[in-house]
Amino acid sequence: MYATFKKAQEEEAVQVADRLQKIPPYLFVTLRNKINKARAEGIDVISLGVGDPVDPTPQGVIDELCRQAQIPINHQYPIDEEKGMLAFRREVAQWYARRYGVELNPEGEVAGLIGSKEGCHHFILGVVNPGDVVLMTDPGYPAYRASIFMASAEPYAMPMVAENDYFPDFGEIPKDILKRAKAMFLNYPNNPTGACATRDFFRKAVDFAKAHGIAICHDNPYSEVVFDGQERLSILSVPGAKDVTIELNSLSKPYNMTGWRIGMAMGNPDILAALLKVKENTDSGIFNAIQYAGVVALREEDQNIEKMLGIYLRRRKRVLEALAKIGIEFKPQKGTFYLWIPVPRGMTSIEFTTALFEKAAVVVAAGTAYGKHGEGFVRISLTVPDKRLEEAMERIEKTFRK
Ligand SMILES: Cc1ncc(COP(=O)(O)O)c(C=O)c1O
Repeated sequence: MYATFKKAQEEEAVQVADRLQKIPPYLFVTLRNKINKARAEGIDVISLGVGDPVDPTPQGVIDELCRQAQIPINHQYPIDEEKGMLAFRREVAQWYARRYGVELNPEGEVAGLIGSKEGCHHFILGVVNPGDVVLMTDPGYPAYRASIFMASAEPYAMPMVAENDYFPDFGEIPKDILKRAKAMFLNYPNNPTGACATRDFFRKAVDFAKAHGIAICHDNPYSEVVFDGQERLSILSVPGAKDVTIELNSLSKPYNMTGWRIGMAMGNPDILAALLKVKENTDSGIFNAIQYAGVVALREEDQNIEKMLGIYLRRRKRVLEALAKIGIEFKPQKGTFYLWIPVPRGMTSIEFTTALFEKAAVVVAAGTAYGKHGEGFVRISLTVPDKRLEEAMERIEKTFRK
């Protein structure tokens, strides 16, 4: 079907929007195609490319989904549609109070989302006009850039490098850009670097946004995936943050629920209202049974988070051990289930990624897929079964050992 559409386009039978031409192919679609092709050729490819937990969703959450799916009224349009049902919004508010010390009013300061990725897109459509500038980091999550282009706005990439503790330097943004900047994406714990924020950085970001009339979207789906004593943080815990900020979060990563598509947006009521205005005309919210199951996850499954952190820590240790054997030693950042790994001296990100694929049939994400400041790094995800990770590490040790 897609091929036919492409052909029709080439023959100029149909038009495709110009703004889509600016969006590169989505990283993981490209990776998936590469993996599928190799597998079709009989190669046993191990993918460490995608951050998609393979460990099971907690049983209590699945049981609640099944129970709620038996109730006919739940098959109708969701209760409170795009806003998310009150029971879910209340549970989110309690989770935020318990986990981050943030007080939220479930009426007006919390909304349900079909995952935080949806929230990123609808935030942009809700707050920017064509031609506005949206600040994001480089490296950064590729979907931000795509959403900015889809709103006919202009991304401005703030370098985010190790020398600056992976914080953007707001003082470096040119004045003319600043004048046109209306929104900003931040994301800590950060994909792809794993870097975590400090309260002080969040304070600076909020002050900067207030001074320049910028709406912040802090995308925080990895808030629970932190190690080495790192504090779990919400930007909304900074005084005054709610004046200019929404935060997005998600059940995808802490509860192994990526496929369920459930997340939440919290914070400034005006920004949330704008996002919801887009949503009410675009989607009609989350399946009721999934929201009820989400309530159970948030209320009862803190222990799943602890269990997963133990598993990721063990996998992280194994990867670091293998890398040390091939001469790559570095101190990992404290957040996410990714490792942001410096490539061997003399190689580019793409060269190392290609070597891993061709010599060891191991797929990783090239750092440059997240922006030009990702050069010199590759990203490994720890969301693979232990046995496959072990096999991947053995291949890497055998192939690249000095
Ligand atoms: C930074 C970031 N934001 C959003 C998402 C999407 O999360 P969700 O499954 O809640 O849509 C991801 C997923 O990898 C991510 O890395």
